[in-house]
Amino acid sequence: MTSASAALKRAGRAVAFVPTMGALHEGHATLMRRARETGAAVIASIYVNPTQFGPKEDLSKYPRTLEADCTICEREGVTAVFAPTDAEMYTDGPGNVSTWVDESQVARRLEGERRPGHFRGVCTVVAKLFNTVQPDAAFFGQKDYQQLKVIQRMVRDLRYPIQIVPVATVREADGLAMSSRNRYLNAEERSHALVVSLALKAARELFLKGEQNPERLEAVMREQVVGASLARLDYAEVVDGETLERITEARPGDVALIAAYVGATRLIDNLSL
Ligand code: PAJ
Repeated sequence: MTSASAALKRAGRAVAFVPTMGALHEGHATLMRRARETGAAVIASIYVNPTQFGPKEDLSKYPRTLEADCTICEREGVTAVFAPTDAEMYTDGPGNVSTWVDESQVARRLEGERRPGHFRGVCTVVAKLFNTVQPDAAFFGQKDYQQLKVIQRMVRDLRYPIQIVPVATVREADGLAMSSRNRYLNAEERSHALVVSLALKAARELFLKGEQNPERLEAVMREQVVGASLARLDYAEVVDGETLERITEARPGDVALIAAYVGATRLIDNLSL
């Protein structure tokens, strides 16, 4: 992968990188399209990274659809797909990592609090992928807002010479944020899952009407999610858009984030105010 990337650069191409865990959907395809539009050669990775899954999470049942994924990559003009094995990514195995990359501020709350070790796994694998692919730019979705902010902080702190490009969340026609995990939902759960995006929209509308109290914005989100019987709220918060810390007064650029279980499936979504 490293020599393929170097060859592209020697030929005068910029290299744009789209890291994924596969089970590709229109959200991933949009990242690839944005990358392609810059004129760069696009490299995508497909790797279900064990170190970012908790012991009780869905690593073993995470959808793996490599052939269909490669068809999508080809359609989107991706030059090379990097689909390493665990042994290729982790010399002594994913259960035996001795060097971690651990962003400790932006990663602390929200997802980081509920999924201990998750962002450490994400940062470590993304750092390794960056070192292998050596891209000029890398594309990340705002769907995983905290992940995007953690990666931006890591790149700043470790001086990676890589431009991080955020891409807006791609949604289904009714507003549900696209996610590889949506395929776990049955028809009834799918309809209840809509409350997540509706709750975020309700908070944003209330903010645009002048409500600046984060607790009242959060209460509106909670009420919406609690109204859907198959949904169980994990968190609903309005926080600073850069630090992800709690705020006392909501301002434009702050962000509303929700995590909720619908049936057994954990969904996350967010909306900037
Ligand atoms: P994965 O969940 O496959 O997502 C890969 C990229 O696609 C991420 O940047 C994510 O934010 C983006 N994405 C997913 N759904 C999206 C949507 N509906 N709209 C826009 N972008 C979307 O995130 C990961 O994989 C992993 O943590 C990874 C960064 C690859 C490290 O293992």
